[in-house]
Amino acid sequence: MTNEDGAREITTKQVALGVTGGIAAYKAVEVLRELQKAGCRVRVCMTARACEFIRPLTFRAISGDHVVTDDYAPENPDPIAHITFSQSADLLVVAPATANVIAKFANGIADDFLTSTYLASTAPVIIAPAMNTTMWQHPATVRNLERLRADGVRIIEPEAGIMACGTTGPGRLADPQLIVHAALELLEQHGSNPLNDLAGERILITAGATREEIDPVRFLSNRSSGRMGFAIAEQAAARGAEVTIVAGVTSASIPAGARLLRATTAEEMRASVMRELRGATVFIGTAAVADYRPVNRAAEKIKKRDEQFTLTLEPTPDILAEVARTRHEGLLVIGFAAETTDVVQHAREKLERKNLDAVIANDLTADGAGFDVETNVITIIRRGDATPLALPLMSKLKAASRILDEITALRAKRFPSVTSEISRPA
Ligand code: CTP
Repeated sequence: MTNEDGAREITTKQVALGVTGGIAAYKAVEVLRELQKAGCRVRVCMTARACEFIRPLTFRAISGDHVVTDDYAPENPDPIAHITFSQSADLLVVAPATANVIAKFANGIADDFLTSTYLASTAPVIIAPAMNTTMWQHPATVRNLERLRADGVRIIEPEAGIMACGTTGPGRLADPQLIVHAALELLEQHGSNPLNDLAGERILITAGATREEIDPVRFLSNRSSGRMGFAIAEQAAARGAEVTIVAGVTSASIPAGARLLRATTAEEMRASVMRELRGATVFIGTAAVADYRPVNRAAEKIKKRDEQFTLTLEPTPDILAEVARTRHEGLLVIGFAAETTDVVQHAREKLERKNLDAVIANDLTADGAGFDVETNVITIIRRGDATPLALPLMSKLKAASRILDEITALRAKRFPSVTSEISRPA
């Protein structure tokens, strides 16, 4: 079934909500209610500590279902509840997630109902951590979260603010609306990708802004957040692709399921891309690479003087153009074009000049488009296609999904033999 802009609708919405023991446990009630309002059936499980903050009865009354707190409790209607519970869920949401449960998930420890459910489930997982700032910033927690991200878990980062313990800093549970928004997006993403249709593709993506130093304290850069590239990475990984990102400076949350390499300057990004390109089947340049860099970086801080100051710049390497120029058989090369005037015309000119298979144009002047916002307005221009595909305002995740749909279509059209290689089971 499809909706008016061509995306498939969600058919199943069974959510398992895990509540762990933190002050924010009461906010899980709002998560439950909002998921229900969106049409999901939600079943709740709670850790023993969570039951000290809020009673299971609250969740039972609202969900209309038995709340599992212990696999072995005599009143539990199901003798192997963690298996039935985990396998009937389309999505597992854990809110709040304590440092303890994060550590257990990251290490495969299954010593209670929730942690056994996590291990026994193949559904996508979202966790919304909440804890004291020092615990959040502890290297052990940072390490465990890295591991969970690599395992494909989506993390809704906590907010900064005044904590229950009186300190100020990051650690407060994210807004329940944000958690629910991410949950619905993930359900939709998985509902529309049951085919693992990018399995076999190895996608290399550049993202974020590069930074070119002027002196030890100043640099040239831009406002790119990395959101669009990260959204493509996350969606591609969820659809079965092996994804590597070479990211410059970013402020967006790190995507789940992708390998992330860092670069600062255009030259470092170029070197990393050229190293990683071997074996790639798709290259997508979403990075806002600085077009120019200072000819000389001053070793000392440049002092202010009462006269005009001229900075001499030279062009940086064009990574996208170089990838296209040196491409190997079967590699699809996709670029982005952020424009403010004659958007399609400029984008088409880039497609020709850089010899791309497709270019994604975005009009920076359109409402809801551009840097550092969650939405985008894109037009997809494919080589050889006279009519560009202009899409309405949508979330960057949804736009990412549409771009990947176009890539699968391009693959079938440009390299039919490679398509059969990629889709042949190993
Ligand atoms: N790009 C790149 N390396 C550069 C500059 C751009 O890989 N040094 C890539 C971007 O990641 C994007 C595409 O090229 O996919 C378009 O970049 P853009 O800067 O908009 O195009 P330019 O060719 O620099 O043209 P102009 O700045 O004049 O619009």
